[in-house]
Amino acid sequence: MRYSDELIEEIRSKNDILDIVGSYVHLQKRGSTYFGLCPFHNEKTPSFSVTPSKQMYYCFGCQKGGNVFTFLQEYENYTFKEALEVLAQKAGVELPENDYSEEDKRKDTRRKRMLEINKEAAIYYAHQLRSPQGEAGYKYLTGRGLTDETLLKFGLGFANVTSDDLVRYLRQKGFEDQLMIDAGLAGFDEKYGLHDKFWNRVMYPIQDANHRVIGFGGRVMGDAKPKYLNSKETEVFDKSRNLYGLNLVRSSRAGYIILCEGYMDVIAMHQAGFDMAAASLGTAFTSGQATLVRRFASKVYLAYDSDTAGTNAALKAIGILKDIDMSCRIINMEPYKDPDEFIKNLGKDEFQKRIDDAMDSFFFELKILERDHDLKDAESRTEFLHKAAEKLCEFEDEIRRENYIVATADKYSVTADQLRRLVIQKAAKGAGLKRELPKPSTVKTVTNEDLVLTKQRYLITWLSEEPSIFSIVKKYIEPSDFTDPLYMEVARQMYADLEAGRLNPAAIISTFDDENDQSKVASLFNTTLVIDNGNDRGQALHDVIYMVKKNAVESRSMSGTVDAESIIRQMNDKKALEELRKANITL
Ligand code: UTP
Ligand code: MN
Repeated sequence: MRYSDELIEEIRSKNDILDIVGSYVHLQKRGSTYFGLCPFHNEKTPSFSVTPSKQMYYCFGCQKGGNVFTFLQEYENYTFKEALEVLAQKAGVELPENDYSEEDKRKDTRRKRMLEINKEAAIYYAHQLRSPQGEAGYKYLTGRGLTDETLLKFGLGFANVTSDDLVRYLRQKGFEDQLMIDAGLAGFDEKYGLHDKFWNRVMYPIQDANHRVIGFGGRVMGDAKPKYLNSKETEVFDKSRNLYGLNLVRSSRAGYIILCEGYMDVIAMHQAGFDMAAASLGTAFTSGQATLVRRFASKVYLAYDSDTAGTNAALKAIGILKDIDMSCRIINMEPYKDPDEFIKNLGKDEFQKRIDDAMDSFFFELKILERDHDLKDAESRTEFLHKAAEKLCEFEDEIRRENYIVATADKYSVTADQLRRLVIQKAAKGAGLKRELPKPSTVKTVTNEDLVLTKQRYLITWLSEEPSIFSIVKKYIEPSDFTDPLYMEVARQMYADLEAGRLNPAAIISTFDDENDQSKVASLFNTTLVIDNGNDRGQALHDVIYMVKKNAVESRSMSGTVDAESIIRQMNDKKALEELRKANITL
């Protein structure tokens, strides 16, 4: 058994959706609904809505939605139980022990064990670093300038040369062999049996935003390859949705974030007092991470390596950030390779100066473009200015575009008038528009089934916003007329609620376990109504009811069953549909 519906409902109703979501997302009121930038996908104009009357959120862009529980599950990557625990505590409600479904319990236990084993391994590695077997690791890290305080702050550790000591330690702590393998801490082979995955490396625990260890990076102490070994992805470790250092950045007050490439860079910057530094996890910067970044900071600085690979990675990151309308500045690390080396050689004051002097990403892109052109050669210079004009077209905001035209003209010694004309020319040919066109993969063909389901959603939303139409709707439509099983179940609950005179959409969401189902349920209550069209609301309601009924009747008659019961049902159906067609609904 899971917690009782009453208890879940009590906790839900004691946590206002506006308070909970509002503490994570900046929301603005529009009518009875609040809107903000969706934290679950990248967007430039707000399509994420919170409706206090329904106690629900829903994004019209990515179709994610739900109630307070769903939100914390999605945002904090919590299980339902974790979300429930957090909200129960907020509301001062005590949770009874052992009141939970087997499947949920199993998932929850599994995640908890996964986090525990990672934490235990981190403790072990940290302990090793400070023991005689860990001397080499300690010397390596302090030799790179890290203080004891920094080692503690980042939980750094050491995996020694013994090939199975972690395995033995974890066994003694009661962890099963399979869990060690699943967590990526141990491997198995015929020759050596179960053995430690990390061996003779300094260890960097990777923490999520809530300070929980979710994986590791391990570095060799010399020049051997691979330089870093990273944990594989697990139930608790999603590389594209976490950043190294995010747990610390979260409490920074800087208002901006510095993104870099390496674990060591993050650590070096924090040690020098730059508590807003974070890095991706051994993979390229992703749009999932960009969304994450936007939750914590409105401005981004890139401190990528100054070599070719780093420059290319920076250009990619600029593009990903631009897609969500985040501008960034690029910190010049020359003549050093990365922030760690820079700070070690020139110190934090110089680094601060480089932050202050960081280059606008647009001019950084032009600077890179310059490398392929000879600005003293007439032909090459022309080509360069044409490319610059094309890039200028990408600024949608007119004033911003004008400012950049003036600045670019100044920098590359042309007149602003000339450059402006060139930009207009390019724009006329369609430059700068490419980001606005929908990508082929996102253009969906609308099937008849989509249309039918849209009508069903429309009816459910309308009912939830105007419960008084229920007395009319129930005359013609039964829950079983909704063709999708999930729609049918929602309708069944909604009809029961409406009969009892207390409709509560957010409570219905909690009766579904799966997050995708919860989003789907939220979409049922968040269809955009355009009822005032033509002003005849009765006619509009009639049309929707008729469409839903007609489709239900048709899909039943196509089921092909020929027993007496279904034949009678079909005859009744036809009669009801004919009556409905002639019926006059007034509102
Ligand atoms: P770098 O090679 O720049 O290393 O890789 P670094 O961070 O400066 O480390 P030090 O200073 O040599 O100790 C940048 C990042 O790329 C990932 C790691 O996340 C690393 O921090 N990486 C690199 C790997 O995952 N595996 C590798 O073999 C190399
Ligand atoms: Mn480095």
